[in-house]
Amino acid sequence: MASINDIRAAFPYFSQGPGATGYVYLDNAATTQKPFAVLEAMNQFYIHSCANIHRGVHRLSQSASIAFEDARGTTAQYFGVNNPQQIIFTSGATESINLLAQGLAKSHLKPGDSIMLSVLEHHANFLPWQEWAHAHQGTLKTLPLTSDFEIHWPELESHFKSGIALLSITAVSNTLGIRLPLEQIINMAKRYGVPVCIDAAQLAAHQYMNLDTLQPDFLVCSAHKLYGPTGTGILYLAPSWLNSLPISKTGGGAISKVSWEKTEYVDGALRYEAGTPNIAGVLGFAAALKKLQQWDLATCEKHEQQCLNYLEQQLIQIPEIIVYAQGKPKIGSLSFNVKGHHAFDVGSFLDRYQIAVRTGHHCTQPLMTHLNVSGTIRVSVGIYTSQDDINAFINALKKTLVHLLKYHA
Ligand SMILES: Cc1ncc(COP(=O)(O)O)c(C=O)c1O
Repeated sequence: MASINDIRAAFPYFSQGPGATGYVYLDNAATTQKPFAVLEAMNQFYIHSCANIHRGVHRLSQSASIAFEDARGTTAQYFGVNNPQQIIFTSGATESINLLAQGLAKSHLKPGDSIMLSVLEHHANFLPWQEWAHAHQGTLKTLPLTSDFEIHWPELESHFKSGIALLSITAVSNTLGIRLPLEQIINMAKRYGVPVCIDAAQLAAHQYMNLDTLQPDFLVCSAHKLYGPTGTGILYLAPSWLNSLPISKTGGGAISKVSWEKTEYVDGALRYEAGTPNIAGVLGFAAALKKLQQWDLATCEKHEQQCLNYLEQQLIQIPEIIVYAQGKPKIGSLSFNVKGHHAFDVGSFLDRYQIAVRTGHHCTQPLMTHLNVSGTIRVSVGIYTSQDDINAFINALKKTLVHLLKYHA
């Protein structure tokens, strides 16, 4: 098992980047630092085998194509998917949801349909559906949650009975860190024939997922939140949607035959990957996934949980602090506010004390409205976060409170 020191040694951030001077990075839900292995995989491609894929007979194109398809295999395996063709590479979760929404709009979704989302959604899993609803007299329904963010099962079932065209939900809230019970939700949705899209942008960085077992219809995530490069991500399609989901991006690479009269598209993942993909990004993503498997994400998750639990225990002892979803199990992130102070002021002071946290609405404005706040301060941990990092954060927060109280005295 890799120790936290072994893991930190694999990230240039700690030896050559801001971490070397003690700057504590607790904004991992926004993006993660990248291990040497990811940078090496990308450099390797650009230096030694830079060529476009799936087009050339020369050796560079051949080896780049093989490496790209190997990366698809690695990604499929990481997500517990037997058929790599079900993994479509995109520029990230946002593009994946947009491609899905445009594809479903051409076939599955009918004017007036209802789409169900949760109040926890990131704007990436809100706006494409809202746009569709506005253009097609559709309705956005809210996943019924109790005040404690538990599913209200009878209400959910009655929504399913009355007809929901799609349920698209986040696996883990990027703001509160709480996880939705995907397994039970998908089981119930299947009983009523409701397709489910899972936004795994946050969960996939903290827990292994087995999609062949979970069986969502669609799943999206971004490489950069899993220690991979920016500008890369996936759209997973269940077997029944592969080739039947209409394409919404056309161009080179996706076709088998083009004439003035009509075009035929290839089957499989390439059908949805028109244009030159982010080849280096995909190779870097696969390198990141291999590192996560080497370090054993399941063990890393336990350590992250300890850090978050410790953080919450420390925070609730400070009277000026309000922790959101207090006492609920959290994955990756925890949000709080300092009574009477704007999140930006707190975040700016923390930065002065060498701490990076995210402040604001975290691209979850409907959730901010629900919580009746303009923003929160979010601490998000990664596989390299140590208890010392959390202690440094708590110390910095205490100094920040002293400043804020003086400022308002
Ligand atoms: C839950 C969730 N969904 C979607 C996204 C969008 O990801 P990206 O900006 O990489 O497309 C994010 C990013 O923070 C997120 O946290």
